[in-house]
This record gives sequence, structure tokens and C-alpha cells, in this order.
Amino acid sequence: MEGVFQLISKLPDHIAKELSVPVISAPMFLVSSPELVIESCKSGIIGSFPSLNARTEAILEEWMERIQFELSEAKEKEPNRKVAPWAVNLIVHKSNKRYEKDLEIVKKYEPPIVITSLGNPSAVIEIVHSYGGLVFSDVSTILHARKAAETGVDGLILVCSGAGGHAGTINSFAFAGAVREFWDGITILAGCISSGRDVLASEVLGMDLAYMGTRFISAKESFASDEYKEMLIESVLDDLIYTDAFTGVNANYLKNSIIKAGIDLEKLKSKEKVDLSSLDQSDSKAWKDIWSAGQGVHQIQAVQSVKEMVAELQDEYDRAKEKLFVPSS
Ligand SMILES: Cc1cc2nc3c(=O)[nH]c(=O)nc-3n(C[C@H](O)[C@H](O)[C@H](O)COP(=O)(O)O)c2cc1C
Repeated sequence: MEGVFQLISKLPDHIAKELSVPVISAPMFLVSSPELVIESCKSGIIGSFPSLNARTEAILEEWMERIQFELSEAKEKEPNRKVAPWAVNLIVHKSNKRYEKDLEIVKKYEPPIVITSLGNPSAVIEIVHSYGGLVFSDVSTILHARKAAETGVDGLILVCSGAGGHAGTINSFAFAGAVREFWDGITILAGCISSGRDVLASEVLGMDLAYMGTRFISAKESFASDEYKEMLIESVLDDLIYTDAFTGVNANYLKNSIIKAGIDLEKLKSKEKVDLSSLDQSDSKAWKDIWSAGQGVHQIQAVQSVKEMVAELQDEYDRAKEKLFVPSS
């Protein structure tokens, strides 16, 4: 075999040229901080956060202003440095009482990418497209992928089995293959992507970007507590449980955090009635005390700065690519 292995990306050039590896550090409730976003972008990966991590609209405005300022300052100081665009995640659902106001803030600060979860993203698309931004929607079923595709989003994030947070149940190969039948836009894979080799594998599957959550919980810049980070490092695959007991929607959690919160794991497994009265499930308490992680947890071995993580990802990615590079004779 001769020639050079080439990956084709559907990302617009102005984004692709600012990436050191095709990765988004995924939005995580109570975990993604403005520092995590800024350091991600300054390292050449797209940084994102859920708008609700900012407890009030005023704080959200402060964060957006700061992210914008620090990223343009970094680019001004070093024009040749890769500074990736940033993204905010909006929950487009009537349960999100801040939705309308947060959308106004999006209009004002014009984040280059908006990631929508749940609900119909049409109103978001209209606003974000008016200033030249992109909208990506996360989906975990074919039905939702089709619906989102019909609204005119720019990208679909396929949240597959084993992901952290509210993971889907579809295998990545199956989801990628099924969506390819009706979708030709930007495609992003989520679920258990932990290393640079995994990022390259997702590109081989036809993806334009890899969406990595769990890996970034252990970043120095994340809001996760030291205990959460330690538990993440110590945990292996068997230490996870997939349950709808805490939010009504299935998600992957660290078993030891459940035990630590005084909840009987055996009862949870057997679906016996469990006393969850100590957890107020209507707000952030469930996520504050019960810690989520995806199956990629097995590969997390240290607390590192985002800069160190991205350098490692880039090195693994380049080494994996070398294996596929076939020099022409
Ligand atoms: C602790 C935690 C909180 C999360 N919170 C959100 C959220 O607020 N909004 C969202 O769209 N996804 C959320 N997710 C899902 C991630 O954005 C992403 O889809 C997932 O982490 C990817 O899988 P991985 O963890 O295997 O990399 C969360 C994931 C984790 C681990």
C-alpha cells in the first residue's frame, strides 16, 4: 500500500486551524469552571461549560466576559498560538427556568459555539446563526438525532454508552453507522474517549471532534473536589453503577460516592425502595454528593493541569497517527 493516510474534517477552517487535537472538553454540571474553559482553549481544544454552573445570570455574564477577554488577549500576545473557540451548554427544556435569560446573555456575548441539550434548539439556532456561530446538539437516540438534524443544527454530538453523566445506551460503532445514513454535517463522538489514540479512532469512525468529559474531571482547573478527583483515580470499571435512582434519568456514578452518602448500594441494585430523602433531587444536591464518571474512568491516573493533559493527548494522538502513516516509496 502506498500514499499518505488523510483524515477529512467538516469543521470550518477558522476552527480547525486553532486545534492542536480535535477535542472538546465537554460541559459538566458543577465540574466545568471558567479556568477549565480558558485553559482548554489556550491549549488548542474547544472548552465548554453548562450555563447553569454560573449560579446567577450576573455570574454567567462575568464568566463570559472573562473568557472572551482572556482568549482574545492570549491571541493578541501570541498571534501564532492556537487558541480554540469556546462553547456554552444550554439546557433547552422547560425545566430550565433560566433558559430565556441565558439565551439573552448568549445574544450579548456571542459564544462561537452553543451546545444544546434536550428540547428543540430552533430558537437558539436563529440567534447563534445571526452572529455567525455554530450550534451543536447532544443526542443519545436515533429519534433525537433525526429531530435535531431537521432543525438545522450544525453539529450532532452522539452521546454513546459508557459516557459520564446521562449516558445513552447505544454503542459508538452502531450510533456512528446509523447517523451516517441521514446526516452529513459535523459529527462529534462522546463516551469513554480518554486518550489521544481514542481521539484518532473516533476520526477513523468519521467523527470531526471527540467530546471528553470524564478525563477532564481530574483537571487541576476543574471545580471537582479533591476527594472526587482521588476517587476517580482510584476507581476502575467495576466501580461504576448505571442507575436512574437519583435524577429519574439513567446516568453512570461512582459506587463509592453513593456508599459515602450513606445509601445502601445493594438496595439500589435490587431496585428495592431506597431512602433518598437525604438528597434533594430537585436541585444540584444529587450531583454534589453523588459523583458521576463514565467508563473511561479506568484510564484516569493522575490530577494534571489542562495544559499537561492536552500535551499528553497530542503526543498519544501523533504516535497513533504515525502507525497509520504509509510513506510513498
Ligand atoms: C460530572 C458530569 C456532569 C455532566 N454534566 C453535563 C451537563 O451539565 N450538560 C451536558 O450536556 N452534559 C453533561 N455531562 C456529559 C458530558 O458533557 C459528556 O457528554 C460526557 O462526559 C462524555 O462522556 P465521557 O465522560 O465518557 O467522556 C456530564 C458528565 C459528567 C461526568
